Amino acid sequence: MVVGYRTYLEQIVPLLEGKEVVRAGMRAEVARAREAVSRARSGRRVAVVSGGDPGVYGMAGPVLEAAREAGVIDLVTVVPGVTAATAAAALLGAPLVHDFAVISLSDLLTPWEVIAARLEAAAAADFVIVIYNPASSRRDWQLVRAREILLRRRSPATPVGIVRHAGRENEETVVTDLAGMLAYPVDMGTTVIVGNSRTYAAQGRMITPRGYRW
Ligand SMILES: C[S@@+](CC[C@H](N)C(=O)[O-])C[C@H]1O[C@@H](n2cnc3c(N)ncnc32)[C@H](O)[C@@H]1O
Repeated sequence: MVVGYRTYLEQIVPLLEGKEVVRAGMRAEVARAREAVSRARSGRRVAVVSGGDPGVYGMAGPVLEAAREAGVIDLVTVVPGVTAATAAAALLGAPLVHDFAVISLSDLLTPWEVIAARLEAAAAADFVIVIYNPASSRRDWQLVRAREILLRRRSPATPVGIVRHAGRENEETVVTDLAGMLAYPVDMGTTVIVGNSRTYAAQGRMITPRGYRW
């Protein structure tokens, strides 16, 4: 059987044929994970569907926690996928060829003060910064504040890549900079990559030098 959030299940309809499917709503991650573990304990083979890589802000966490709670952690196998950071990076060019940090701007489960401190630390250490969950219909100010924090440490000309719906039909890719980034729409399906002090834009692509001599 297959357990998953509705939007993700809609993307794999051909794979669901003949299978029992449990469609869950958003923000029901703990219930979804417990349901999957409970079915697996009763002997079913259960697949929990997650977007991108299940181990990056995905369902691997709640499923393993539910399995630990039930004492059946050995029942779980985590299957890796392509995470939004690398899917977006491939479309933008080569922004992640040096050290990078991934930070989610969602303050639903993490206090904003923690997120802001991480942005500040990553900016101070000159990491390329990959931003997940930049905005949603209910969260519209976090990216504005994140940009203010980054501008304290980085030039307004720092390249910024914005990728919406990577790998989907309505995929959109923009290369801009810290000064101009807020002119472009972002939503729950968008990943933003902010370059480090050496990242440059060339012919519409973003490149972070690894340090080779040319
Ligand atoms: C809760 S995280 C889940 C990440 C997912 N597990 C992964 O590995 O990509 C959701 C965030 O991932 C990013 N994301 C997911 N799918 C994306 C896509 N197709 N294109 C761009 N960003 C995406 C967005 O930043 C979105 O707000």
